[in-house]
Parts: sequence; C-alpha cells; structure tokens
Amino acid sequence: MPQVTVTRRMHFNAAHRVHNPALSDDENRTLFGKCNNPNWHGHNYVLDVSVRGEVSERTGYVMDLAHLKRIVEGAVIDRVDHKNFNLDVDFMQGTIPTSENIVVAFWRLIAPLVAPATLTRLVLWETANNYVEYDGR
Ligand code: NI
Repeated sequence: MPQVTVTRRMHFNAAHRVHNPALSDDENRTLFGKCNNPNWHGHNYVLDVSVRGEVSERTGYVMDLAHLKRIVEGAVIDRVDHKNFNLDVDFMQGTIPTSENIVVAFWRLIAPLVAPATLTRLVLWETANNYVEYDGR
C-alpha cells in the first residue's frame, strides 16, 4: 500500500522569556538579547504537523485532517494558546522555552495519539523567518 504524508497547519499565540536561571543576568542578556526581556514578549506561532500512513481504501484518507486537528488541539494547542510558556505551561516547567525545546515537548505529547498513522515531522515557526523542525530523533 502507498504511504502518504499529510500535514495540518495550526496557529497559536504565546509569550515567553528565553532565560537560563543557571546563568547570571549579564550572561543571559549577552546570550539571548531581546529574547531575554524580563517582562516577556510574544509570538504568533505556526505549527505544521505531518503524519504518514497508508491510504485507507474506505475513506481515501491517511487520516481525517479534522481529526488530526482535534488531537493536536487537545494535546498541545489548548494548553499553550494565549499562555506564557515560562509561567503557565506545565510541561515546559524547568525547560528554557526556545522553539527547539518547545517542538521536542510537543512531539512527546502528539506522537502517541496519531496511530495508526505515524508522526513524521513537526515544524514550529516562531516568526516568518525562523523555524525549527523535529522528526523524533
Ligand atoms: Ni521569542
């Protein structure tokens, strides 16, 4: 059976401060610049969620993308949208909320929920110019 990858794009807004509490304030400012602003800043994030699987003979789908949307909303979007990653998001506590760390945390929450399809890629856009991608490795 052919294996096809399908992608659902999701949006959320969230605030954060990129800060490593193990470093001094000076070191944090030097490392992270504006992203270390003590009073937070926000992003309009875009998350592309890709799953691969066999095309169902009954539906012609790998996975109903409306179903994938509901899974991703429940697993991550509803928990981060209009929230502060540093203060409000339980699964990011103790982690510097860079896009790299956010995308790995998202993977752990989404991957178990998409069977019988397989999560193959997450792309997290922090700005129109900067994105990270993760394939679970
Ligand atoms: Ni930022």
